[in-house]
Parts: sequence; C-alpha cells; structure tokens
Amino acid sequence: MSVIDEVKQRSDIVEVISQYTTLAKAGRTLKGLCPFHSEKHASFFVYPEQQSWHCFGACSTGGDVFTFVIKKEGLSFGEALRLLAQRVGVTIPPRATEETDKDKNERLYQANEAAAQYFHNLLINSKAGGQARNYVVQRGFKTKTITDFQLGYSLSSWDDLKKYLMQRSYSETELSQVGLVVAIESKGSYDRFRNRLIFPIFDNRKRILGFGARALDDSAPKYINSPETPIFNKSSVLYGINLAREPIKRQDRAVIVEGYMDVITAHQNSFGNVVASMGTSVTEKQILAIKKLTKNLVFALDADAAGKEATMHGVGYENTIGNEVKVIILPKGKDPDDVIKEDAKGWQRLLNEALPIIDYSFNLVMSRLDLNTAKDKSLVEERLLPIIAEIKDGTHQYHYVEKLAKSVGLSTRNIERDLAAYLARRRVMKPPQESTSKLLPSTTNICEEYCLALLLKYHELKARQSGLLIEYFENSENREIFAALREIDDPSLLKNRLDSAIWEHLGKLTKMNLLPDQIEDKFTSCILNLRERYLRNLELKKGAILASEAELGGTPAELAKLNEQGTKISAQLKEVFSQKSRGGKEQKR
Ligand code: UTP
Ligand code: MN
Repeated sequence: MSVIDEVKQRSDIVEVISQYTTLAKAGRTLKGLCPFHSEKHASFFVYPEQQSWHCFGACSTGGDVFTFVIKKEGLSFGEALRLLAQRVGVTIPPRATEETDKDKNERLYQANEAAAQYFHNLLINSKAGGQARNYVVQRGFKTKTITDFQLGYSLSSWDDLKKYLMQRSYSETELSQVGLVVAIESKGSYDRFRNRLIFPIFDNRKRILGFGARALDDSAPKYINSPETPIFNKSSVLYGINLAREPIKRQDRAVIVEGYMDVITAHQNSFGNVVASMGTSVTEKQILAIKKLTKNLVFALDADAAGKEATMHGVGYENTIGNEVKVIILPKGKDPDDVIKEDAKGWQRLLNEALPIIDYSFNLVMSRLDLNTAKDKSLVEERLLPIIAEIKDGTHQYHYVEKLAKSVGLSTRNIERDLAAYLARRRVMKPPQESTSKLLPSTTNICEEYCLALLLKYHELKARQSGLLIEYFENSENREIFAALREIDDPSLLKNRLDSAIWEHLGKLTKMNLLPDQIEDKFTSCILNLRERYLRNLELKKGAILASEAELGGTPAELAKLNEQGTKISAQLKEVFSQKSRGGKEQKR
C-alpha cells in the first residue's frame, strides 16, 4: 500500500468534513449544507462506506478526502497529503524538487521585484502617478507607509510594464507565468494591472510573491490580484507578514484582518502585529504560518463573517494553533481601517475585549433561542455539543461542558453523559469494518491507469480527451497526474509539476506495457468505460439519497427534484451504452 493510500485509509472523511459543515445522518449517508457554496437546503452528501463526498447542488462535483481538503483549504495535492498525514501520524518525506525548478522560480521572484520597483517609482515620481498620489493622501497614508509597503502605481497603458521588463531580458512566457501580463491566445499579451494602486505581496523572507491592485475610484472590480502562479498561492500567504513578523513575536499575539487597507492603516497607527487573509476565509496553512510566531490569535471580523467562522471553523482553528482563538466583532458596516482611523483607542479597546471564539458561538446560538423553553434548551445542547466534541484539549473541553451545563441548567454529569452519547452516535455513523455496501468499490482503477498510461506514452491523444472529465478519476494520484497532464504541452515537464510523493506512481504508469495498435480506439473505449462507471456510481449515490429522503419524509418537491436529476443520469448512461454499441462514435445531432 502506498503512503497515499495509507493516509486516505486512516483519515476519516466524516471527521474531516465535519470540521467545515454540520453533517446529519440520512440513511447510509450523511448530509449537510455544502461548504463550498451557500445554500438553504442541504445538497451535500458524504458516503462513509465509500469515503467520498458529492454536492448535488451548484457544485455538482465530488471526490475523496484529498479532493475535499484541496478545494476547501486551497492547497496543492502534496500540501493536502502532508496536512492529512500529519493528522493521522503518517510520515511523508518532504517534497523533493529537481534543481532547475529553483532557478526557474528565482527568475519569477526577480521579475516581481523589478516590477515592484517600477510601480513604486511611478507612484512617487511620475507625472502620470498624480491621481494615485492624491488617492493615497486622501486615504491618509504617510510617505513612510508608502515606502514601508512599497506601494506603487501602474500606468493605464496596455504594455508599458511588459516592454520595460522585456528590455531587462524577461521573456513574455516568464511574465505570463508570474501573472504580470495576461496572455491572449496566439495574440501576445498585455499588462494585467492598469491604472491601479499597487500592493506588492511579500512573504516572510521579503520576496515578492504577487500583487494586489486597487482601482482609484469606485469602478469594479475593486481589486485585481495576481493569479495562482508557481510562487503565489493566495491561500497560504498573509498580507503584511514581512512587516508584522517581528511585532507578532514581540507582542506574542497576531491579529488577522481581511483587507490590504486594514493592514496598512493598522501599521501606520503602531499596531504592527496585523496581517490580512486577503478577503477569503482563513486557511489552515495561514494559521500554521502564524503558529511559528505566536499561539495567540485574534480575528477581526464583521458580525456576519464572525458568526459563520465561529460556528464553522472555530474549534478547527483552535486545534490547529493549539490554543484558544479570539474574535473581535467590528461595529456594523465598518472595517478595521475605518475603526482605527476614527479612534485608535477604540480599536485597542476592542482588542482588549476580544472574546474566545467558542464563547462567541455560545452567545450566538443562545441569542437566537429562548432558554426558558424546554424545546430551546435541548436545541442549545444539540447545536453546541458538536462544537464541544471537536475540542481536542481535555481541560478546555471540560470548561465548555461546565459552561453549557450552567446555561441550560443541567449538571455537568448530565452534559458529559450526553457528550459521550453524541460521540458514540457519531462512531456508529462511521463505516462498518466489513462493508456490505452495494456501492462500487473504488479500488479497482485499472481502467484509470491504463487511460493515463496511454496519454503519457502517446501525447497526441491529448487532442482526443475532451470527453474525459477529471471527476472520472477516483484515485487521487491518478486524478493529480491527469490534472497536471491537461495543463502542459511538453510531457517532459510533468514530473516537475507533480509532488515527489507521486513520482513512484507516475513511474509505474510510464513503465506500463502497451501494445502500439489501435491506440485511438482503445483510448476512446477507455473513456467510455470510465464515464459509465462514474455515472453508475452517481446513480447509486443518488439512489441512496432518494431512499433516505423518502424515509425521513422529504417534501414531494425535493423528491421530485432528486428524481429528475436521477432521470438525467439515466439518459446519460443510455448515451454511453449506445456509443459503445456504435464502437465509440459520438451521436450525430
Ligand atoms: P474590501 O472590499 O473590504 O476592501 O475587501 P478593503 O480592503 O476594505 O478596501 P477599501 O477600504 O474599500 O479600499 C477586503 C479584501 O478582500 C480582497 C482584498 O484583499 C481586500 O483587501 N478583495 C476584495 C479582492 O481580492 N478583490 C475584490 O474585488 C475585493
Ligand atoms: Mn476598507
């Protein structure tokens, strides 16, 4: 068994996903609100027996535990693998890279560095930068702040930066790779950031990973950011970390805000321990980066975001950092930039009064219910027990058992008993050792591997893979290899793109014995087989849901909707069968 399989087997998908959304048992499956899109009616299902998940709503996609963590935490496959491995105690060697990789990235850092200087100079000195200078003054930024953050301005022209950097020997490919220019298919490229205030995004070694760029007026989009590049992964960076590192260590506390402007105003007002998640919800990787500096973490959130974060991720954040996490709730309609500018002392007060995130979720749950009624008392317990159950630290957990007992007027023994019962119920929901599942086993992946082996050896097949969806690959390694293959034109670059944990598997595929006849037919029939398996599986999953919905008394409308989706799958399957009988030819429409 490969380490990847081992991590997958030891990770309990129900436990992992429960950290992001509340799952309730529904027959053989579990269901909950989809953690990837906002919805009122639950259309997200977890299949413990198969260790997989599927969203039948807007996402209409699914996968295994790796796919989930990759999507949710914005990680690469290798990062997700190492994160889960760490949780279940499997050791994975650190990612190995081939030498050239390092040199290549070095060029990208240099290109960003040169661009940042170019932008900064325009903001400080150029005539064209006048409007941008007015803007930063109007936002209250001092000269020192502009220097500290290396703020800049990008001209409104189409390719001034590109020309400037190409004269300095950077190739168009490099500039496009690092996201400074946008490539238009076969028509060259143009500058990504035009007529905007530029915020270089540094890592803690003071290298520039990418840029944020704000419009100088109300036009949309307000911000444009660098895309994902070999050196920029938005979800693992914290804006301002280069300047906040020392203050965080010194004060032994870090404050996470949302925006660029919030960080800059905070620093200008001597709150140097502030960094930004850049608009998205905070990821595990960002917390791990902070953990190296301090274990005291405060989130500054607006009331809407706070409620969501507290009940969804609160305990998860605490388990990651290994300490209580606090939140400050901002006055309605204001962000830290506004608050600090209005009254720096007020910000300090908010910080002093920061609430532990779990206390905040207690308040939130209780404020919506009436503790004088028996029904709401049990609702409070029902909502808070899952949160308490996730707390890993025993003393900490007991503190909240006591708190809950006091709130609902029960003894701590009673709550402890209920907690034990809750945990036992949850264990029952985990997969039985010997599964009598009707779902197709996901271990037989010969077809997936054969398909990839063909693609690896006969790269010209790439042109014929349009019907091959990434969802058809159930095995994470295969899925990862397929995703990388789709992105590159030169197969010799493949290994470099893949995490070294997958190299062994890749080696196996490239060494597979293939007979060189009727390659295209074999490939087409392979795709059809994979599609058939995928659709059949989807049908079974759908069936399992339908049964549970009917059992639990789903409304006729819900059942009808599920039925309708079921009909669609059947129609697609029929099409696969008829294509097979026609020897893999698409139907003429
Ligand atoms: P905000 O809309 O709160 O912006 O987004 P802001 O930082 O307060 O900026 P001002 O004060 O209106 O000028 C918060 C963060 O979300 C990300 C940026 O990182 C921003 O700082 N964001 C927001 C984007 O990436 N793109 C957008 O279009 C908007
Ligand atoms: Mn703002």
